[in-house]
Amino acid sequence: LDYTEPYRPQYHFSPAENWMNDPNGLLYHDGTYHLFFQYNPAGVEWGNMSWGHATSSDLTHWEEHPIALLARGYPNEVTEMFFSGSAVADVNNTSGFGVDGKIPLVAMYTSSYPVSQDLPSGKSITAGQQSQSIAYSLDEGETWTTYDAENPVIHNPPSPYEAEFENFRDPFVFWHGDTQKWIAVTTLASLHKLLIWSSDNLKEWSLASEFGPYNSVGGVWECPSLIQLPVKGKKSIKKWVIVLGLNPGGPPGTVGSGTQYFIGDFDGTTFQADPASIYPGNSSANWMDWGPDFYAAASYNGLPNGDVVQIAWMNNWQYGTEIPTSPWRSAMSVPRQLSLQTINGKVTLVQQPQQNWQSVANHQTLQHSWKSVSKGSTKLNSPGKAFKIDLSFSDHDSKKSLASTFAIAVRASSDFKQETLIGYNFTSKEVFVDRRNSGDASFDDTFATLYHTALSAGADKRINLQIFVDWSSVEVFGGQGEVSLTAQIFPKEDATEARLVSTDGVTQNVKLQINGINSAWH
Ligand code: FRU
Repeated sequence: LDYTEPYRPQYHFSPAENWMNDPNGLLYHDGTYHLFFQYNPAGVEWGNMSWGHATSSDLTHWEEHPIALLARGYPNEVTEMFFSGSAVADVNNTSGFGVDGKIPLVAMYTSSYPVSQDLPSGKSITAGQQSQSIAYSLDEGETWTTYDAENPVIHNPPSPYEAEFENFRDPFVFWHGDTQKWIAVTTLASLHKLLIWSSDNLKEWSLASEFGPYNSVGGVWECPSLIQLPVKGKKSIKKWVIVLGLNPGGPPGTVGSGTQYFIGDFDGTTFQADPASIYPGNSSANWMDWGPDFYAAASYNGLPNGDVVQIAWMNNWQYGTEIPTSPWRSAMSVPRQLSLQTINGKVTLVQQPQQNWQSVANHQTLQHSWKSVSKGSTKLNSPGKAFKIDLSFSDHDSKKSLASTFAIAVRASSDFKQETLIGYNFTSKEVFVDRRNSGDASFDDTFATLYHTALSAGADKRINLQIFVDWSSVEVFGGQGEVSLTAQIFPKEDATEARLVSTDGVTQNVKLQINGINSAWH
């Protein structure tokens, strides 16, 4: 693999060629992490939606496999597209798909039917319909058999929502130990509702409850997941979390897609959101990421120890089909380990990047401490194009001689006319990513923007930032990971400089470490 084209992510997954959107069927089974994804075999635009497939043994190095579920009819008239969904290992063979003791992997996905048709199962389909179907694999996800005898296994939205048959999608399925049942969550996208289903065998589903609308109801609700997490420091308290996509309707200051979450309880039937997780009158939301490029987050099934790891599509429907990359379009976020922690008195979703950094770290390290970084610009040695930054500094109240903002500029041209700034505003107490001068933004009017969100200092009165820079992205984790901001950037190839910028005054007690990251593709 070459993977050296302009903007090619070096340690984020991207397909060798063609269009990709949502992560699908995230499953850890037999020592292998599977990553399926929305994929167009025919080019760099959305269409002919199929499931691409990649595997990894460390969530860092990925190997792409042949297409797992190819749009039915392709390359001629497509009669069924495989929209987003999830996968499980049916270890007890509840589905009966297992043969000779072989554990079947079962995928549950949305069948999107462009044309009216009568299916082999005898079910009849209206053009534009979305239904939920299943398929199984007996060869570690390499090839799949659709369950044509009964598909779609959830044919129509339930009463009184029959009219929503074109906006009914994205099943997230998982095993619920307490009730010994499979649970699936789907959206009624336009109504901003989730439907929760249960099943004994992955084939027959009954409606258990519904959830929503709450909080952000911009655009449509898509790609839900429902996961269980302990609250850190209170091991006995386990909460359930719904994560879901809105498009358009992301966090304040963004345009296009966004990801929100709800914390609550789930008893196998109903999800009850905590009062602290709901904002009256849809006035606000719990945002998982405050940047523009984190969407359709999906969760791994099958991880040991109750671990929860999510991967998101690092792009945005606002401009996703216009980004200047070729011969592929879109990358995934770094996999993120989720936890719940009480931050400023509120139970909050916390994220930490989960990759095997050791295996891709290069020896190039820059390490420095400053008692005080002077006002203005402090040039750093060039860190290159792919690296990790640990940056921390003292918080302060705005006073004369102290900075109003402090930032590190990365992927900067030698004249610093082009740069992406990641920093902190001491007045508003916000962390920000400023991609207004980050490079090519010609493809969309809303791209060149500054994104920001509140972040308070830790107990040590310091602001802590972990920043991951790749050839066309920055991902910022603030504090312990209680905030993240993810943004694509398209800088010039030779924009490899960096500097510190302390505005209006000095910044105190600055610690900086930068570690180079090698390509995960060679
Ligand atoms: C979200 C989404 C899903 C759908 C898929 C189709 O990005 O719109 O709701 O299943 O993309 O590719």
